[in-house]
Amino acid sequence: MNQPIGIFDSGMGGLTVLRALRRQLPNESFVYLGDTARLPYGTKSGETVSRYAVQAAAALVTRGIKLLVIACNTASAYALPAVQDFAVVPVIGVIDPGARAAVAAAAQGPIAVIATEGTVKGGAYARAIRTIAPAIEVVQQPCPLFVPLAEEGLTKGDIAEAVARHYLAPLCESRPRCLVLGCTHFPVLKGIIAQTIGTGIALVDSAETTALMVETTLRERNLLNGGAAGGTTYLVTDAADRFVRVGQTFLGESIDTGSVEIVDLQ
Ligand code: DGL
Repeated sequence: MNQPIGIFDSGMGGLTVLRALRRQLPNESFVYLGDTARLPYGTKSGETVSRYAVQAAAALVTRGIKLLVIACNTASAYALPAVQDFAVVPVIGVIDPGARAAVAAAAQGPIAVIATEGTVKGGAYARAIRTIAPAIEVVQQPCPLFVPLAEEGLTKGDIAEAVARHYLAPLCESRPRCLVLGCTHFPVLKGIIAQTIGTGIALVDSAETTALMVETTLRERNLLNGGAAGGTTYLVTDAADRFVRVGQTFLGESIDTGSVEIVDLQ
């Protein structure tokens, strides 16, 4: 089936998930929607994030997608059921795949989750982890300053080190076996996070496990594209030039300005 896969994020961070999807599914085409006009989602209420997420899903469904990935952790945490109720296609969020990967990596040891304020407050990772492994200890830490650091490209140096120490030092006291990067922006800060927490703690991000889950779902439903490799279309709600410039850090390659369209969500 050569219809595209839709991916939605509050901005450009979800490009880390698109990157994993493109690697896992090279024959598929993608429509990526970044709600850059309303970023960040991580500090907004659950009601607002759910409303935005349903609007984004509506815009992608009208583009004829065959499956929708909610790449944003905050939107997955708050809005997965609302989007699943609304959309006529399978919808996959990043929390469950991330929780599964964490439980596999932690070997019953404590799991630490770092995320936005909204994702931590909603407790979605802790619930998802405890559904799989009820006895496992979960500690959580919101790390809101990691989002602008990643967008400014401040992924190393004094500022990044100070912020990482500020957030991660208290977490290390609970001696986690695994640290979940529960936000789309955090994979680009992996280096400084790993350096700060030291060795012996596995770092898990949900991008790869989500890509595997998408592949399994497409296969089970006979929706994989049997034809040639497809491309990616980008939709943003504001500031296409910033998306192209900053987005490359998250995607790991340049974004063609001609493939980016401005849309209005309502
Ligand atoms: N995409 C968001 C997430 O993964 C991070 C940025 C934001 O706060 O909107 O939670």
